[in-house]
Amino acid sequence: MFAVQFDSPGYIDVLQVRNIPVPSPGEGEVLIALEASAINPADVKIRSGMITPQGSAPFTLGYDLVGTVKQTGPNAGRFLPGDRVIGASTSAVTGNGTWSEFVCLPETSLARAPENVDSAILAQLPLPGLTAMQAVDALQLTPGADVLVAGAAGAVGRIALQLLHLRGYRAHALVRRAEQAESLPTGVAEEVHIGSLPVSRVDAVIDTAGIDLSAALRPGGHYVTVVPGSPPHSVSPESATLVITRESGAMLHALAELLAAGELDLPGSTTFTFSEIEAAHHEYDRQLGRRITLVV
Ligand SMILES: NC(=O)c1ccc[n+]([C@@H]2O[C@H](COP(=O)([O-])OP(=O)(O)OC[C@H]3O[C@@H](n4cnc5c(N)ncnc54)[C@H](OP(=O)(O)O)[C@@H]3O)[C@@H](O)[C@H]2O)c1
Repeated sequence: MFAVQFDSPGYIDVLQVRNIPVPSPGEGEVLIALEASAINPADVKIRSGMITPQGSAPFTLGYDLVGTVKQTGPNAGRFLPGDRVIGASTSAVTGNGTWSEFVCLPETSLARAPENVDSAILAQLPLPGLTAMQAVDALQLTPGADVLVAGAAGAVGRIALQLLHLRGYRAHALVRRAEQAESLPTGVAEEVHIGSLPVSRVDAVIDTAGIDLSAALRPGGHYVTVVPGSPPHSVSPESATLVITRESGAMLHALAELLAAGELDLPGSTTFTFSEIEAAHHEYDRQLGRRITLVV
């Protein structure tokens, strides 16, 4: 089967499409034939050496997965061969990337794919959706509170904004440029801030941009970030949470239900095949913020 791998971190040209053996599902695992995935910032960070993945070379990249179950391992009974599923593999932590023809994942990391949703849309959901949901879950607030999302036009921020709205928070968006404000789903944000922070206005922030949002917080506010290296030193550890995304089939199921019900609006993307992996990464670098779907 093919797999997108690299041996040592570096520029895009370290990526190679190799022919490797098909894995066998272990205890509680499922073997999935990959249909589509996406490029996330973490893939670029791992490829370039900013993040060191677990295990030893060669490394297979990839977090997101849309595919069809081919085989189930011992004590894996939630899915049957032929089921279409979505999943996220936290590959920096597990060393198990999804950019290969067949992928083994724990069945607890998978959810049934909603019917009638295109794989290019589904591929935008797993890692950004789990990250957004885990960031919103980290808020210690009651509905009605004001929450600012930085990077609201990005993959994680866009979903976080919508989840906040659905849960009854007053969601505020911070974007960098005016055209990003126009790209936000309608009717979700109470206020959209372009390029500058509101001051001392919100009960909590969710940072997906890796910037200092402390000025926006009311005294006693809660700082949630998904970007390692933040929050800034000025924020006390007791009022801050760094979310490191965990795999969760149950959360993906909840996100898939929102998507199927039309309550989650995901961004459009540009599609490349895995044989075009270098071109896909060049395009991703060129259009930061524009999503890329990878298909088999
Ligand atoms: N902790 C974890 O386990 C975990 C999991 C998933 C993601 N992450 C991290 O979360 C971050 C976001 O991921 P993503 O997939 O959402 O990336 P993304 O789609 O590139 O979104 C990031 C957004 O932040 C915006 N931004 C950057 N600087 C800004 C600024 N100064 N003011 C306002 N907006 C700004 C970007 O705008 P531009 O397009 O203009 O740059 C973009 O819209 C990444 O750093 C990623 O590595 C962490």
